[in-house]
Amino acid sequence: MSDQDKLIQALREAVGFSPDNVPLRKHLADQLFQYGAYAEAEKEYRTVLDHTPQDSDVKLALAEAFYYQQKWMVALVILEELMRTTTPPPRLFVLAARAYLQVNQPDRAAETYRRAVELDSALADQEIEALLPAAGKSPAPQNPPAYQPPPLEPDEPDQRVRIPVEDWPRAAEPELDHSQIKFDDVGGMDKVKDEIRIKIIQPLEHPDLYKAYGKSIGGGLLMYGPPGCGKTYLARATAGEVNAYFVSIGLHDVLNMYLGQSEHNLHSLFDLARRNKPCVLFIDEVDALGASRSDMRQSAGRHVINQFLSEMDGVEASNDGVLVLAASNAPWHIDSALRRPGRFDRVIFVPPPDQPARAAILRVMLKDKPVETLDFEQVAHKTDGFSGADLKGMVDAAVEDKLREAMKKGGLVPLTTPDLLRAARSIKPSTKDWFATARNYALYSNESGAYDDVLAYLRLDKDSGLFSKWRKGE
Ligand SMILES: Nc1ncnc2c1ncn2[C@@H]1O[C@H](COP(=O)(O)OP(=O)(O)O)[C@@H](O)[C@H]1O
Ligand SMILES: [Mg+2]
Repeated sequence: MSDQDKLIQALREAVGFSPDNVPLRKHLADQLFQYGAYAEAEKEYRTVLDHTPQDSDVKLALAEAFYYQQKWMVALVILEELMRTTTPPPRLFVLAARAYLQVNQPDRAAETYRRAVELDSALADQEIEALLPAAGKSPAPQNPPAYQPPPLEPDEPDQRVRIPVEDWPRAAEPELDHSQIKFDDVGGMDKVKDEIRIKIIQPLEHPDLYKAYGKSIGGGLLMYGPPGCGKTYLARATAGEVNAYFVSIGLHDVLNMYLGQSEHNLHSLFDLARRNKPCVLFIDEVDALGASRSDMRQSAGRHVINQFLSEMDGVEASNDGVLVLAASNAPWHIDSALRRPGRFDRVIFVPPPDQPARAAILRVMLKDKPVETLDFEQVAHKTDGFSGADLKGMVDAAVEDKLREAMKKGGLVPLTTPDLLRAARSIKPSTKDWFATARNYALYSNESGAYDDVLAYLRLDKDSGLFSKWRKGE
């Protein structure tokens, strides 16, 4: 046994005797780190942080432990938080620059590296400089853009009650479910179905092929768009399509009022999915995790986001065989850490169904109902702006009218095209309000073209002419 082994063993024993001795445990963690036992160091640092959650040295050490385990994303989550504090140690920026390089964000890496050297020129590192895009290398450009840390959300005083683990009320267990519907039951949505096939289904069916070509498996797919346009429905159909279990949860349910329990709930959710592979895990309302929400009260704390990220990254347990789909009606609130590679790196806009899609949806919905030969195209033509849910409302209303008529006549009366058209007139398409909001985000905070699809849908993209008109207020 080497001296180092002996030291670590002795420290472990000591910590075993006095588990609450924080400096002792930190010493053990540091030794483990120096020894290269990063996963074990990580575990000890985490325990230390449970006792001293504000200790930024320990946070930095934890970030390093993640970094050396190649868990760059998790490392960055911590580093980004530390960079926003008042006096971050300069070497933190070097580590962050390296991590940004690893996750293929060279511009951020350059910016962060520049900041490090500004604070302490001794930190200049040729190895990093060689990897940076030209602007990041010294000599610095004439007017280097001032480093702008992401805006800091004020830490709200946490008024929730801390309850001992034993007394936690049982979390609302998400339901495990075998989906009855398949892609064929979903009208239209061809583009989204294709994305799901390529990104989600095929890797599950041919994992070796994907690995051989160096394509990463995992990560999730995020669908966004106006409500009622089939996001949840399609997620369920995905499970049916691959004959997998389906676990579905709205994040607002997970983030309940008990401090500490949200993390616990998140963990049991992923755990349930992992224990029932193959499984489609559908997470609705992911915007509830948003750090960019102004209504912080409604949004999750940093620790919940971290928990979510490590579950997504499969830090503690492998997510093989778990397909993660998520949805949001308010993608602009979503924490940007969730968008990085390996997480929800595929973000797709789910628009309201276009005319052929509406016809397809109506065909699916009316498949087993007593109907005359219906003019689906005409009904589809008259229902511009309707969501799938609006169409369902329309069909339900028409069917109800028919039932009433059938009661009176004492016999079955088939549904006709005029019945549907009449019902359509009584319904106000529900997607308009959503677009009123989305348009503003798409026009004014469309960083890196995130909402180009929304602009194209509204025909406000730059080539359409309407864009400039709209901006001039015409
Ligand atoms: N493409 C579609 N094909 C068939 N039915 C649809 C489709 N889109 C929506 N629907 C119907 O509308 C309902 C609401 O859709 P949902 O998936 O809950 O919308 P979202 O999750 O986008 O808010 C579904 O339960 C389904 O009955
Ligand atoms: Mg939904």
